Formats: sequence, C-alpha cells, structure tokens
Amino acid sequence: MHKTPRRSFLRQAAALAGTAAVFPSLAPSSVFGAAAPSKRVTVGHIAVGGQGSGLMSGFLGLPQGQSIAVCDPIRERREQAARRVEQAYAARAGQGAYKGCKATGDFRELLARADLDAVVIASPDHWHVPLAIAAVRAGKDVYVEKPLGLSIEQDKALREAVHLHGAVLQYGTQQRSFSQHCGFACELVRNGYIGELKAVHVIAPNGATGGKAAAEAPPEGLDYDLWLGPAPVAPYAKDRVFGEGRWHIYDYAIGFIAGWGAHPLDIAHWGYPRIPVEYEGTGRIPTEGLFDTVVDWDVRGRYASGVEFTLKTGPDKTTFVGSEGWVAASRGGIAAEPESLLQVKIKPGELRLLRDNHHYRDFLDCVLTRRVPVSDIDSAVQSDFMSHLGDIAIRSGRKIQWDPAKETIVGDEAAARMMHRAMRAPWTV
Ligand SMILES: NC(=O)c1ccc[n+]([C@@H]2O[C@H](COP(=O)([O-])OP(=O)(O)OC[C@H]3O[C@@H](n4cnc5c(N)ncnc54)[C@H](O)[C@@H]3O)[C@@H](O)[C@H]2O)c1
Repeated sequence: MHKTPRRSFLRQAAALAGTAAVFPSLAPSSVFGAAAPSKRVTVGHIAVGGQGSGLMSGFLGLPQGQSIAVCDPIRERREQAARRVEQAYAARAGQGAYKGCKATGDFRELLARADLDAVVIASPDHWHVPLAIAAVRAGKDVYVEKPLGLSIEQDKALREAVHLHGAVLQYGTQQRSFSQHCGFACELVRNGYIGELKAVHVIAPNGATGGKAAAEAPPEGLDYDLWLGPAPVAPYAKDRVFGEGRWHIYDYAIGFIAGWGAHPLDIAHWGYPRIPVEYEGTGRIPTEGLFDTVVDWDVRGRYASGVEFTLKTGPDKTTFVGSEGWVAASRGGIAAEPESLLQVKIKPGELRLLRDNHHYRDFLDCVLTRRVPVSDIDSAVQSDFMSHLGDIAIRSGRKIQWDPAKETIVGDEAAARMMHRAMRAPWTV
C-alpha cells in the first residue's frame, strides 16, 4: 500500500510555500539545478554522531536529495551538522552563502515539518524503532541504521507501522549496495550454483567489555534525558554516551551479535530467505564494568529444511555450503569453491538480486518512485530476529524453538517473554 499522491502534494506544497524563507541568499536553482523540487527528496538527519555524519556526507553528494534539517540532543553536533550542510550546498553553488538547514534538539519538532519527505536515523539502537515509528506516523519515509529494534516485539511494531502507512524504509545494511559481490554470492546460492544448500555459517566481530561507570554531570549542551529516551534512567557516565557504551550496554543495544551481526546475517537472509527454527549456544555476559552485552557467542541452529546454521565471533563473513561447492562473502571480498563459481554470469531468466550500487541513492529513488528499497523492512525484521533469537538462547541457556508462521518462541514461556523489552514512559512502540 503506497500513498504517492499525499507525498507529491507535500513536496509541491513545500516547494510553493517554503522557497523564499528557506533560501535567503542563494536561489535553489544555483544549488540544485533546474530540476523541479518534486524530483528531489527533502531529507532530515536524525542523530548526527559518527555514523550519522558519514551518512550525511553520502546524502549531500546526491542530486536527488536536499538536506533541510538535522536533529541531535547534543547541541554541538547538531549545530556543526547544520553548518556542514549549508557549507556543502554553498560550495556546490560555487559562490554566496546558503541558509536552509535547521538544527533542532528534539526529533518531534523535525518530524512536524510538512516540507520534510524523509528522515535518516542513525541514533543509538534503543532509539531506532521509536524514532522510525514516529517518522512513518508523521508521513515520512525512513532510512534507518542497523540493527533494527531492541526486541523482537519492536521489530514487529515497526514493520506493522511501515506497511500501515505505506512508507518506504531502507535498512542500513549497506553491503547490499556498496559490496556488490555479496549480492552476487547470494545470486549464486539462490540460482542453485552451489547445489543443494547444506549449511549457512555466519561470523561477526566480537563485542567489547569494560566501560567506566563513574557518575559525573552530563556535559553542557547534552539533553541526557532525551538521549536515554525509552532506556532506564541511569547516572550519566561518559562511557555511556561518548564511549562504546552506546553499542555494548544492554539498555541501549544487544551488542555486536546484532550491531555487527546485522551485516552478515542480512547476507545470510538474502541468500536463503528464511530463518532458523532452532537456536542454542553459549556466550559470555560481562559482569564487570559498564558493558553487559554478550561477547564470544557461539550459536548453533537449524532451519526447518534441515539446513545447519552457525553464528560465531570473528572477522565478518557469511558462508553458504552446498552439495556442489561453497561461496563465502564478507564486506571485504568473496571466495568460492570451486573457484570457477566466481566467473559465473547470471543468465537472463535467473534470479537477480543486485540493484543500484549506492545504498542511499536506492533509497531516494524509491522515495520518488514508491518502489521497495533493496534492504526492505521485511528482510530487516527477519535478519534482526536471528540476532535476538541467538541472544535469547544464550541468555536463557536453553534451546529456543521459533515458530516462523506465528513469529513467536514456542514451548518456553520465560524465553518468549524475552521477545519484549520494557520502555521508560512515556516512550512506547
Ligand atoms: N551501517 C553501518 O555500517 C554502521 C556503522 C556504524 C554505526 N552504525 C549504527 O549507527 C548508529 C549510531 O552509531 P554511532 O556510532 O554513530 O553512535 P554515536 O553515539 O556516534 O551517534 C549517535 C547519535 O545519536 C544521537 N541521539 C541520541 N538520541 C537521539 C534522539 N532521541 N534523537 C536524535 N538523535 C539522538 C546522539 O546524541 C549521538 O550524536 C548505531 O545504531 C550503529 O549500530 C552503523
């Protein structure tokens, strides 16, 4: 279900109403060329830390996008990000000053803008789903970083909202576009070039331990309460917000089993689009320091088809083992046995997965055309489920059974309750 008319209307209305106020110094045509505003997607950047800044650089280079707003509870970051946008557009015009990117601390203010088509979300993980749901409810399309939700329940809630509102959602598993050899590996598997699939082995880089809990006053310019959002109240410590706590504290993330696992698990799901029905494994939950997400995970599982599944720590890689050979892909490269598989040319009539080799451009093009992006919400949910089910198997210490039709853990009520995570009021999904 898509709602093109309303979005076109918003874009056109914004073009008519907003132009003079937004561009006091440079005419839009001197920055964006003669293309009609309805051919450009207005973009708001929610969260402009490390990854958000990188995404912003990528979006600023695309003629299909026009960044008009940034938002971050850290004042210095949002102000710097807004300046970067304005400087980039001024540089593109080659002369004059550009004013037209508003910085705000509160995402609700950004989402209330009628002239905004889409948002790019690169917050810590605990905010991904609440922000993405708020965005699609506000009529925006969404590029959201991986991993998806803090729980299986959050993943489902976002999927429901995306479909209900007909939003375009691109998931931040950019290997689908920027590492085209990953898609080629999946095309080999799905077109039967390695024979009958026997096993899928996934490896993701290990998480970290440590982190200092020393309580201190939040720095001036940080809205710490908003940064915490749905997470429990906790005394401010630098390692939570500015250290690696944002990736390795269970209140904000489930750790690199999802944070890094998202990439190779996404490729696993692209090459074999279903998820295991059984999970068991071991891992270590650090008991000292601030960081308490699983490390050293070693998960084994089985698909309903009998195909074997493993998820371990190490340099990222997804290996598909078949009756006639294997193919392994990582962000950095591809290998296969027999090696001749790497020379295969996918024939007309066979399944093609590869699309645009630019993940952000694929998103903007899909916003304009209402097509489904290459990393769509349905596959995002499934690959994120795998991280959660592995984590739940480790934390419960038991073998977990997954019912893929009902999308629930069966036969273990305590483990099933772990599909839900409490959220601090008033935040909810
Ligand atoms: N796709 C990739 O390869 C890749 C690489 C690195 C990070 N990431 C993901 O990007 C996300 C951010 O990671 P990071 O390393 O940039 O973290 P970061 O801490 O550097 O940046 C996160 C930013 O989010 C802001 N933020 C917090 N709450 C917010 C809210 N309510 N509204 C708006 N902004 C809010 C923070 O103030 C911070 O500036 C993580 O989910 C991470 O997994 C993805």
